[in-house]
Amino acid sequence: MNLKKRLEAKEAVAGVIGLGYVGLPLAVELARNNVRTIGFDVDVRKVSELAAGRSYIPDVPSEHVAEAVNTGMLTPTTDPASLAEADIIDICVPTPLRKTKDPDLSYVVKAVETTAAVLRKGQLIILESTTYPGTTDEVVRPVLEAKGLKAGVDFYLAFSPERVDPGNPTYQTKNIPKVVGGYDEASTDVAQEFYRQVVDTVVPVSSTRAAEMVKLLENTFRAVNIGMVNELALMCHRMGIDVWEVIDAAKTKPFGFMPFYPGPGLGGHCIPIDPFYLSWKAKQFNFEARFIELAGQVNSSMPEYVVNRVAEALNAHKKPLNGSRIHVLGVAYKRDIDDVRESPALDVIELLNRRGAHVSYSDPYVPFVEHGAHNMKGVSIEDAVAAGADCAVIVTDHKVFDYPGIVASFPLVVDTRNALKGIKSERIFVL
Ligand SMILES: NC(=O)c1ccc[n+]([C@@H]2O[C@H](COP(=O)([O-])OP(=O)(O)OC[C@H]3O[C@@H](n4cnc5c(N)ncnc54)[C@H](O)[C@@H]3O)[C@@H](O)[C@H]2O)c1
Repeated sequence: MNLKKRLEAKEAVAGVIGLGYVGLPLAVELARNNVRTIGFDVDVRKVSELAAGRSYIPDVPSEHVAEAVNTGMLTPTTDPASLAEADIIDICVPTPLRKTKDPDLSYVVKAVETTAAVLRKGQLIILESTTYPGTTDEVVRPVLEAKGLKAGVDFYLAFSPERVDPGNPTYQTKNIPKVVGGYDEASTDVAQEFYRQVVDTVVPVSSTRAAEMVKLLENTFRAVNIGMVNELALMCHRMGIDVWEVIDAAKTKPFGFMPFYPGPGLGGHCIPIDPFYLSWKAKQFNFEARFIELAGQVNSSMPEYVVNRVAEALNAHKKPLNGSRIHVLGVAYKRDIDDVRESPALDVIELLNRRGAHVSYSDPYVPFVEHGAHNMKGVSIEDAVAAGADCAVIVTDHKVFDYPGIVASFPLVVDTRNALKGIKSERIFVL
C-alpha cells in the first residue's frame, strides 16, 4: 500500500527527530490522533522525562504525554535505529547562528545523517527547522541521496515551516495552518496528507524553497516592524511624545495598520535569528538585505537604551548607576513563558553589571539563569525590596506580577513594556 493510503488508513508510523518546543507538541498531537509515533532525541534527560509521562514544555500537558506513552502511541527514545520503522521522518532540530551570524546547520546535518542511516524506499522525509531557502534541496537532499536512493523517485522530500507560538492559548498545533512545499508534486501531496492527520488547514506551495521563504518572510516581517517601532520609541522619547499612546490611537484605524510594540530588544529562538539566515543566503546572490540589517542594528541596541533609561531615572533622583541595586522583573524572552533563549533581559543584566550595578531578578517561570557569564538565582520581589533595591526594571511583563504593588514597593520603576499603563507616578519611567 502506498504511503498516502497508509496515512488515510492510520497505518503509517511517524518519526519525529528533536523533541523540543516544536517537535514535542507535534509528536504528542500525532499520537493523540492515532498516528503511532517514535520520538527521537539525543537528550537522555528529556527522553526519560517523557517516558515517565512528564512534559517539560508548558504548552504540552503532562497528562497528554502520559496518555500517549501509556497507550503505546508515542515511543520516546534515544535509539536512532528505532526510526527504521517510521514511514515519515520529521526533523525539528535547532538552527542557531554562529557567533559570526552565519547559519549553523550542524544539528540539521546530524539529524539528516541519522535519517539517511534508516532511509528506505517509499518514506517521506520532512524538514521543519527554520532555515534559508535552498536548504532542503542543497543540504538535506544530497546527504539522503548519498545512500543511492533518489528524492522524487525512491522517497518523498518536503519542507514545512513550523509556526508554534509558545504560551499562546488560542493558536496551537491543530488550528495553526501549515504550509507545505515538496521537492516534487507527489511529495507535496503526501506531506499534505501527513499534516492533515493533526492540522485543520494545510497550505501547499510550489517548492521547498517557497516554503522555506514563507517562514523567513513571516519572521522578517516581525523583526523589521519591531525595529521600526523601536526606532519610533527612541524618536518619541526625544520629542517628549508618549509612543504607547500613539500606537494605541493608531491601531483604531480599521484597515492598513497593524500594531507592533517597542521593548527591551528581541528574544527567542526565531525573530532575532531567522532573518539573518535570509540575509546570509541573499549575499550569495550578491544581494544586500538592507531592512534586515537595519532592523537588526536597531533591535540589538535596545538593551543599551534600557540601561541608559535606568541611569537617567537614577540620575533624576541624584543617584549613580555604579553601586546601585537594580532589580530586573522578568527574564524570559516574552510574557508568561519560561524560555530565556536570546532574551534581552540577559543583555540588560550584563550591561548593568558592567556599569557597576548590583543586579538581582525575579521571574516566576525562571528560577535560575545559566547563560554564559550569567549564573543567577531568582529572588522574591519582597527580598529584593528588603535588600534595598534602588530601582526595578520591568523587562518581561508576566501577567502574574502585582504591578501596583511593584510601584508601591520600589523607589523607581523603569517600564520597558508599558505594563504600568494607567498607573500614574513620578517614580515611573517608561521606555
Ligand atoms: N520555539 C519556537 O517557538 C519555534 C517556532 C517556530 C519554529 N522554530 C524552529 O524549529 C526548530 C526547532 O526549535 P525548537 O524551539 O523546538 O528547539 P529546541 O531546542 O526546543 O528543541 C530541539 C531538540 O532537538 C534535539 N536535538 C538536537 N540535535 C539532535 C539530533 N541530531 N538528533 C535528535 N535530536 C536532536 C535537542 O536535544 C532538543 O530537544 C528551529 O529551527 C527553530 O527555529 C521554533
